[in-house]
Amino acid sequence: MSDVPEGEVVIRDMTRSDLMAVMAIEQTSFSMPWRETTFESLLQRSDADLIAAVADGRLVGYAVCWTIVEQAELGNVAVDAEWRNRGVGLKLVQAALERVRRRSAEECFLEVRESNRTAQSLYQKCGFRSIGRRRRYYSNPTEDALVMRARL
Ligand SMILES: CC(C)(COP(=O)(O)OP(=O)(O)OC[C@H]1O[C@@H](n2cnc3c(N)ncnc32)[C@H](O)[C@@H]1OP(=O)(O)O)[C@@H](O)C(=O)NCCC(=O)NCCS
Repeated sequence: MSDVPEGEVVIRDMTRSDLMAVMAIEQTSFSMPWRETTFESLLQRSDADLIAAVADGRLVGYAVCWTIVEQAELGNVAVDAEWRNRGVGLKLVQAALERVRRRSAEECFLEVRESNRTAQSLYQKCGFRSIGRRRRYYSNPTEDALVMRARL
């Protein structure tokens, strides 16, 4: 029996054995999901942090970031639809920022769909501000990305 209380969300490193659950969330969260091989190669990179949120013994969300010298990129965050609006996304982004800060990153960047107000609001809460736009960055549907940056 686990000594973690029911419903409590625990943050830990993602491992290869999480990938099936990660892909299930990835495919239902994005119109252009990452491939499993993308997660696999990032798991092998020493400059990347892949973080899992686990509740009641199952993976309910994840975040992926990497750090190159003093700049970090938050490349992916997603939470299982059943677990949204319960603070899991916030925990994941905060954990990601903590990891890259430990690697001595001075700023963290991300791209987000212009229409994804939910994610933008989460990022703003974590200290990110919009600093620019990449035109037609996304497809399916075609859409601009807002570039956001947090100073660490
Ligand atoms: C974006 C996402 C990760 C947020 O995860 P979450 O666990 O639901 O977020 P939280 O419950 O931690 O909410 C944190 C903050 O996000 C914002 N937020 C979350 N849900 C929101 C909603 N439905 N509408 C507006 N803002 C919302 C709020 O600022 C919220 O803070 P508050 O509760 O004090 O208002 C989740 O909605 C998701 O997985 N979406 C699909 C994938 C995606 O778009 N990822 C981001 C790609 S750039």
